Amino acid sequence: MLLVPAYSDMQPGEASTQSRLSRGITLNIPLVSAAMDTVTEARMAVAMARQGGIGILHRNLSIEEQATHVDLVKRSEAGMVTNPVTCTPDDTLADVERLCATYRISGVPVTDTDGRLVGIVTNRDMRFETDQSRPVREVMTPMPLVTAPVGVSSDGAFDLLRKNKIEKLPLVDSEGRLRGLITVKDFTKSEKYPLSTKDADGRLMVGAAIGVAGDAEERAKALIDAGVDVIIVDVAQGHSKGLADMIGKLKANSKVQVVGGNIATRAGAQMIVDAGADAVKVGVGPGSICTTRVVAGVGAPQITAIHQASLACAPAGVPVIGDGGLQYSGDIAKAIAAGADTVMLGSLLAGCEESPGLLIFINGKQFKSYRGMGSLGAVRNRERGGASFSKDRYGQAEVSSEEKYIPEGIEGQVPYRGPVSAVVHQLVGGLHQGMWYTGSRTIAELHEKGQLMPITAAGLKESHPHDIQMTVEAPNYHGR
Ligand code: XMP
Repeated sequence: MLLVPAYSDMQPGEASTQSRLSRGITLNIPLVSAAMDTVTEARMAVAMARQGGIGILHRNLSIEEQATHVDLVKRSEAGMVTNPVTCTPDDTLADVERLCATYRISGVPVTDTDGRLVGIVTNRDMRFETDQSRPVREVMTPMPLVTAPVGVSSDGAFDLLRKNKIEKLPLVDSEGRLRGLITVKDFTKSEKYPLSTKDADGRLMVGAAIGVAGDAEERAKALIDAGVDVIIVDVAQGHSKGLADMIGKLKANSKVQVVGGNIATRAGAQMIVDAGADAVKVGVGPGSICTTRVVAGVGAPQITAIHQASLACAPAGVPVIGDGGLQYSGDIAKAIAAGADTVMLGSLLAGCEESPGLLIFINGKQFKSYRGMGSLGAVRNRERGGASFSKDRYGQAEVSSEEKYIPEGIEGQVPYRGPVSAVVHQLVGGLHQGMWYTGSRTIAELHEKGQLMPITAAGLKESHPHDIQMTVEAPNYHGR
């Protein structure tokens, strides 16, 4: 498929990529990182939200681990940290070091057992300490500290930080209990990441995946308690009673945004819309690591699937997430023209610095591993002592032995691509170009004006570089 060029009276930079992820969440860039264990944990989710997209935390984790990742994102950058990480005066410096490393912060307020602020301990207090077993009370800066009342304005807080040349401003109530924290880093980050996806409290937004079987409800509750913004009820066969029931329960019992998927037909999308979901995720088998279409013989070409789903979703005002199969930036524009509001990316992000996993060196080249959530490796999940929390995505929750498991995905590696910011820049840049060629200033206009033309194998060959040996790698083209 190719997008047909059309009359355009704009420059690429004038296009707005703002789009709806769900009924209640708008993103400045229409990109979502996949709920896969080689793609999205807290670090990727933070990076995606800073760029203006969002990350969906995978569920091949225990409930506690997944909720901790939500917590890490929610505390990472904020107008105000509502529930700051704290220590007690009796904790040791080693304890504080550990907290700082886990949450990537430079210091913590010190509170007593009643939650009253008694001091603050920061890098500066600890820098010249050699004895890590010393208690915090001996090195912290004790009260009185510069503090502000809860509800202080952003300008007021910034003035206090500036005038007192401090980096952290604890917020306290009338009884001196710690109620929040504002840090200077959050102001500089807001300037550095103007498009970032934030909630009403100025915290980065994050999503997380759950299934429909076993402890799914308990998992959803833990994620909601940790502050998750959107839950994706994520199963390979989303056109199912189990999915509709789970969406219904979540919508009845919480205010969280709920996405259902995956489906690949209009009827499947209609069922999810009718169940009350805030968005529908589309894709059966298009993913780069998927084998569903060959193992089960099931699926629908992704552009057709997106279009069909949009026929059910658009009239209901429910956004569509096109999940899987995107290989180049041009595919984003095509998916949107077909009816998607946002796209979910696996392989395009798995090679980033912020994805889980280490760099692999092969013949001097750098790679990162990438595997399907239905692959044998994800089910074995050696990283977590062999516990698989995601077999039920493929309807095989009860299969206990590896030999009996029917994989629907493969394991491999993708080239290392550097930081998310650079990759997203190219992807969004490509989308701007696509919008320029089609004369679309907004995502809504791309929905309306984007005309897709089927092409033949000869057309595809002509579309890619041909009759040349590539000698220099482009940042947005990695060959076929
Ligand atoms: P891409 O093409 O971006 O696709 O790498 C990512 C999407 O693929 C789906 N997914 C799977 N599908 N078997 C499948 O059939 C699998 O093992 C598997 N793992 C992930 C998922 O929707 C993801 O977002």
